Amino acid sequence: MRHTTQDLTRRAAAKAFAAFVAASPLLRGQIDPQRGHDRVPKLDELISALDFEAVAHAKLPRQAYNYTAYGTDGEFTLRRNREAFDWVQLIPGAVSSPTPPQTGLELFKTQLSAPLLISPTAGHLMLHPGGESATHQGATAAANTPLLVSNNASQPIDQIAAAATGPLWFQLYPREDLNATREILDKAQASGCRAIVVTIDQQASEYERELHDRHLTPVSTRRAPARAPLAPSNPYRIRDRRLWYTWKYFDQIREMVKVPMLAKGILTAEDAKLCLEHGLDGVYVSNHGGRSIDYGPSTLEVLPEIADAVAGRVPVLFDSGIRRGSDILKALALGATAVCVGRVPRWGLAAYGPLGVQRVLEILQAELVQAMAATGRPTLASVNRSLVRTDFS
Ligand SMILES: Cc1cc2nc3c(=O)[nH]c(=O)nc-3n(C[C@H](O)[C@H](O)[C@H](O)COP(=O)(O)O)c2cc1C
Repeated sequence: MRHTTQDLTRRAAAKAFAAFVAASPLLRGQIDPQRGHDRVPKLDELISALDFEAVAHAKLPRQAYNYTAYGTDGEFTLRRNREAFDWVQLIPGAVSSPTPPQTGLELFKTQLSAPLLISPTAGHLMLHPGGESATHQGATAAANTPLLVSNNASQPIDQIAAAATGPLWFQLYPREDLNATREILDKAQASGCRAIVVTIDQQASEYERELHDRHLTPVSTRRAPARAPLAPSNPYRIRDRRLWYTWKYFDQIREMVKVPMLAKGILTAEDAKLCLEHGLDGVYVSNHGGRSIDYGPSTLEVLPEIADAVAGRVPVLFDSGIRRGSDILKALALGATAVCVGRVPRWGLAAYGPLGVQRVLEILQAELVQAMAATGRPTLASVNRSLVRTDFS
C-alpha cells in the first residue's frame, strides 16, 4: 500500500522502513553464512564424548574452561597422554558370542556395570550451579557409575552424598596436620565413601597458559570466594605446597581408613611395589591428566610395567587421556582393572548438567561394548594383551 505524507502514521512509517531494510542487499551482506556453527546443539545431537568439549567451551566462562583444559608447562605430557592411544592397535576378532559383550565387574565389593569411574576433579560449581551434586546425579543415572569426590570439591561431602544413591569414593590430598587429615577422612567415611584415594603426585597448581590469562578474574575451585593464591616461600611463581610427605604417611593414616585405600599418581613399577609394601588395596596409575610433572611419560606407556609388577594382587586403576570406549579397551588390555575419566564428565556437566554427565558416561559404556564386540571379546576376563599391538611394549 502506498502512503502519502498526509496519511503516514508512525506505525505505517516504521513498517515501511522495516520492509526497506529487510530487502536491502546491505543487510544480506551482514549475514554470516556460517552462522549455524555457534548454535548450541541438543543433547542427542552429540555423538562422541569429544563433542561435549565444544559445547562446554561455548557455555563456560573462559577461566572455567581453561582451568579444565590446561596441563603443566609446555603440555607435552598432556598431548602425549592422547597420542599414546594412537600407538596402540586393536586386533579385530571374529564375533565370538551371540550375546552383547558383558562389561560388569566387582570392584572392592561394589558391583559395577562397566569398568568406568569418574576421576576426582576440583570445583564442579564453576561448571554448573548443581556442582558435584549434579555430577553425582548424572553418574548414578548412568548405571551407578562411581564418583570419586575431590578433596577440593566445591560442595561438602555429605551434601554430595545426599544428592543421589550411586557409589562414592573420596580423594585426599595429604595434609601435614594428622588431626585435620583424620577429620576429613572421618567425614568422608561417615558420608558413605567406599574407598579412599590418596593423591601423591605433585601436581602443578600453576599452568603456564593460565599465566597469560591473569587479567581474567580467577575462578575459585571451592565454595569460598576466590582467594589470593598461597604465597610461595620463593620469589618466583613456583608453588611449594605438599613437598613434605613420604611413604610413611600411608602408615600414619592407615588406621584412620576403614575402607580400601589406594595411592593415585603411580607411574613406575617401583612405586607400584611400594604401594603393596605399604599395604595399599589398589594402585591408581595417573599423571593428573597432564597436570603433574611435564615431560613425564603418558600413563598408557607405563601401564604394562606397572600391571606386571602388581601381578593381579590388587586392582589397578588408570586415568589420563581416556576419551573413547576403544581407549578404555586398550587400557584394560594393557593391564588396567578399571579406568577413570576426569575432563570428559566435566565437559558433560558444563554442557548439559546432570543429563550431560549421564550421556557422556553412557556413550563411553556403549562404545566399550562396541569395541569388545569388534575384537571378539565377550567378557572383561577375555580382554588381555593379545588384543593389542603397541609401539612401546
Ligand atoms: C580441572 C581438573 C581438576 C582436577 N582436580 C583434581 C583433584 O582435585 N584431585 C585429584 O586427585 N586429581 C585432580 N585432577 C586429576 C584427575 O583426577 C585425573 O587424574 C585427570 O583428570 C585424568 O585425566 P583426563 O582428564 O584426561 O581424564 C584434576 C584434573 C582436572 C582436569
